[in-house]
Amino acid sequence: MQIFHTIKGLREALIQARQKGLRIGFVPTMGNLHQAHIELIKRAQQTSDVVVCSIFVNGLQFGLNEDWDKYPRTFDADCAKLRDAGCDMLFHPDDNEMYPNGLDSQTRVICSTMTDVLCGASRPGHFEGVTTVVTKLFNIVQPDEAIFGIKDYQQLAVIRRMVEDLCVPIDIIEAPIHREPDGLAMSSRNGYITAEERPKANQLHQSLNWIAEQIKSGKRDFLALEAKAKQQIEAAGFKTDYITVCNSKTLEMAAVDDKHITVLGAMYTESARLIDNVSLS
Ligand code: PAJ
Repeated sequence: MQIFHTIKGLREALIQARQKGLRIGFVPTMGNLHQAHIELIKRAQQTSDVVVCSIFVNGLQFGLNEDWDKYPRTFDADCAKLRDAGCDMLFHPDDNEMYPNGLDSQTRVICSTMTDVLCGASRPGHFEGVTTVVTKLFNIVQPDEAIFGIKDYQQLAVIRRMVEDLCVPIDIIEAPIHREPDGLAMSSRNGYITAEERPKANQLHQSLNWIAEQIKSGKRDFLALEAKAKQQIEAAGFKTDYITVCNSKTLEMAAVDDKHITVLGAMYTESARLIDNVSLS
């Protein structure tokens, strides 16, 4: 695997791949890689000749009181996992390479829909940081396709919308949620969960599934289902951020006759904020 720390170095290598007519697949990450990230690499390998992964803990998408400083940086272990998976290129820039003019004066990409609800409501500015860095990474790598996990459902929806609105010539491919055996969605932030909390940390998944089952069995009082799921989460000792039954495309609150529904949720453990979702059509 070739490792690049500069935009120039990566671009030179990619020009050669492009000249050979090779299809380039891209998997952006913030590192601390786990099996779900590796599944994205494998998915990219199915339809691309050259797979590029990026690792960059993007300060622009973290709030002031969030975990940017303590976000796990495990570069050597990440490289070993990517090598084992057969990833071709890794882009690992530092803050100065990505934001040479500093964060405050950085030109931003703003998606004006779907970004101030759900995770956006409790993380103001988060999606602006995501769309800005993803646009920069897209411009640096210029891939034919980019792979994103459905686990970050709102992020995926916002990126799809951005790509559509700005005519970005990149295929966005979604990969299913990869879970621990008990259903907990894999996440770099799962490392923050204490041993005591861990046995119950799949409660979010269980409550979202419970809502999905209720809807499938004909229940349509979404607010009542959301309230009950919140009670379940609180009974397990966690704090709910939100549980919302949404229209899968717009992420607005679902209407009773919506055919494509996604139930999204976020909850706080003592020191982690976990997200998850389940879709029904
Ligand atoms: P990160 O949290 O590292 O996630 C990188 C990619 O892995 C995202 O597409 C995310 O949806 C996917 N992913 C993480 N856990 C997953 C799981 N359990 N199942 C399926 N996919 C999973 O998301 C980001 O980084 C950043 O916001 C980024 C897009 C890199 C921009 O900074």
